[in-house]
Amino acid sequence: MFRIAPSILSADFARLGDEVRRVAAAGADWIHFDVMDNHYVPNLTIGPMVAQALKPHCVRADGTRLPLDVHLMVQPVDSLAQAFCKAGADLVSFHPDASAHVDRTLQLIRAEGCQAGLAFNPGMPLDVLEWVIDKVDLVLIMSVNPGFGGQSFIGSALKKIEQARRIIDASGRDIRLEVDGGIKVDNIRQVADAGADTFVAGSAIFGQPDYDAVVDAMRAELAEPLARAA
Ligand code: DX5
Ligand code: ZN
Repeated sequence: MFRIAPSILSADFARLGDEVRRVAAAGADWIHFDVMDNHYVPNLTIGPMVAQALKPHCVRADGTRLPLDVHLMVQPVDSLAQAFCKAGADLVSFHPDASAHVDRTLQLIRAEGCQAGLAFNPGMPLDVLEWVIDKVDLVLIMSVNPGFGGQSFIGSALKKIEQARRIIDASGRDIRLEVDGGIKVDNIRQVADAGADTFVAGSAIFGQPDYDAVVDAMRAELAEPLARAA
């Protein structure tokens, strides 16, 4: 049920392919790929050509393929969303405030054969979700302001995760609830208790020499019975 999605934003960019294989071998479920345009967010990262080059590396030694989870922090969204789908993305998430036509962008991502996600900044309400939930495969709650790895978890995100969980459950749809920003071994449990099922972690994993140890420690935290089920 739980998915751990290392963010390669904190990986060694000089050897991204090896880094992706290492976290895959360590037990990662998805590879989280942060796209920043120095316009929607104050940082500039990697584009569809890098996604295409990394795609064959998103695999474990036994041949299991890991979904490529593309998080677009760009404006405008549509042409890049399509480009990432064609480059091999499995999921493409965007920020609704970055798209002039949220419904259209969601449709366009699905039409390309990808799963579509909506990402909500710490200061953004979930209101839009109600109107497009039938076209959403993933809700991404930002627990930092997007743009950089290594920031601290913003506590108010917990309340928003709970709210998103209620909306998703009420819809009866199969929608993943992903949280991104400041997730560590010592808070992943609390984030799961709030209702998240998918956890992005960048600096917590790539900032340590032993990726296996971090992923194992996160799994151990997640293996405890859920507090909200008690
Ligand atoms: C922030 C990115 C995150 C980032 C998370 O804008 O969307 O995916 O890499 O990094 P950590 O886990 O270090 O907060
Ligand atoms: Zn991200």
